[in-house]
Amino acid sequence: MGDEGQGMTKPILRALAGEAVWPPPLWLMRQAGRYLPEYRAIRAEAGDFISLCINPKLAAEVTLQPIRRYGMDAAILFSDILMLPWALGYGLRFAEGEGPVLPPLRDAATLATLDSARVPGAIEPILETVRRVRVELDATRPGETALIGFAGAPFTVACYMVEGHGSKEFGAVRGMAYRDPALFGGLMDILTKATIVYLSAQIEAGAEVVMLFDSWAGVLPPLLFAAHVIEPARQIVAALRQRYPHVPVIGFPRLGGLSIADYARVTGVQGLGLDTTVDPALASALVPGPVALQGNLDPLAVEAGGPAMREATGKILAAMRGRPFVFNLGHGIVPSTPPENVAALVGLVRAA
Ligand code: CP3
Repeated sequence: MGDEGQGMTKPILRALAGEAVWPPPLWLMRQAGRYLPEYRAIRAEAGDFISLCINPKLAAEVTLQPIRRYGMDAAILFSDILMLPWALGYGLRFAEGEGPVLPPLRDAATLATLDSARVPGAIEPILETVRRVRVELDATRPGETALIGFAGAPFTVACYMVEGHGSKEFGAVRGMAYRDPALFGGLMDILTKATIVYLSAQIEAGAEVVMLFDSWAGVLPPLLFAAHVIEPARQIVAALRQRYPHVPVIGFPRLGGLSIADYARVTGVQGLGLDTTVDPALASALVPGPVALQGNLDPLAVEAGGPAMREATGKILAAMRGRPFVFNLGHGIVPSTPPENVAALVGLVRAA
């Protein structure tokens, strides 16, 4: 301690400001979750998943569990992308072993039930989690671990609302985007505006970075990708930059393929999440600094551990050396991952 000014800026914030910090800062998508026995214990105490997301004491505890175990450079708020539809008054439940279930949104009458006025009140317990985590990080890891807030990107949230559950192809959503652009556009507009409100509130509560998860961006062809992935992200980034110019935004247009270059350029994000399918060296050429890249180790390589994890990690680190970069996975940790493999991964990245 005793370090002032520059030296106190958290490594991940330096990387997202365009600095080639080395070894790179790291955190892992779904770093809080079922692979950790201490998560499973709290999850059992909370009852169902939504109850955990709206219990600030337990959600803050779960957010901090991986930080205590591994000392990551970022904590990510423990919540879910579908808590925004929940806050809009839209039915949501998590069926055990099945994932999220919602009423399928297929007509204007259902769209009209979404109530944006509910959002500020409904998200209050989530904001309280943000406040608690920030207080704890400031007290225990000053200058080290930053707090990331997040939301689902409008398209991915719309995917679950229109379909009513997860899917491989999201055919109902793509069909609606072509056949009924007014209805689909109406939904996207409500979600884009609500996302700006939601992320602004997380920043006010203490989030130092925000991330937009567009997990299903890759199901769209380029024309629809531009309209429903890039354009809403551009609007969200512009609104947040205007209000909070110092808070970086990480975009994650998963499976976006070659469109990630346009995404980075047009949206104005400070960080770009790479999924597992992207060659890191090619991505580095497609998306030059100062945009920081984030990713993209295959979660299954962490589950496997050993030489496979070491080789895959080494390849990513070699491609990213010398540019702004945040080490992460290319998608969330799988529940069957041995916690000691995560410890070994952290050791590999710290030794880069
Ligand atoms: O640690 C973190 O990354 C923070 C918390 C977080 C969760 N979900 C917790 C969660 C975050 C950032 C998310 C994002 C999320 N949620 C996404 C985008 C990222 C991605 O994975 O593509 C999506 C698509 C969802 C929707 C969702 N939530 C699904 C499809 C599921 C069921 C699948 C599963 O893993 O069970 C969830 C549930 C969920 N969200 C769990 C967790 C820890 C598991 C719930 C449990 O404990 O039973």
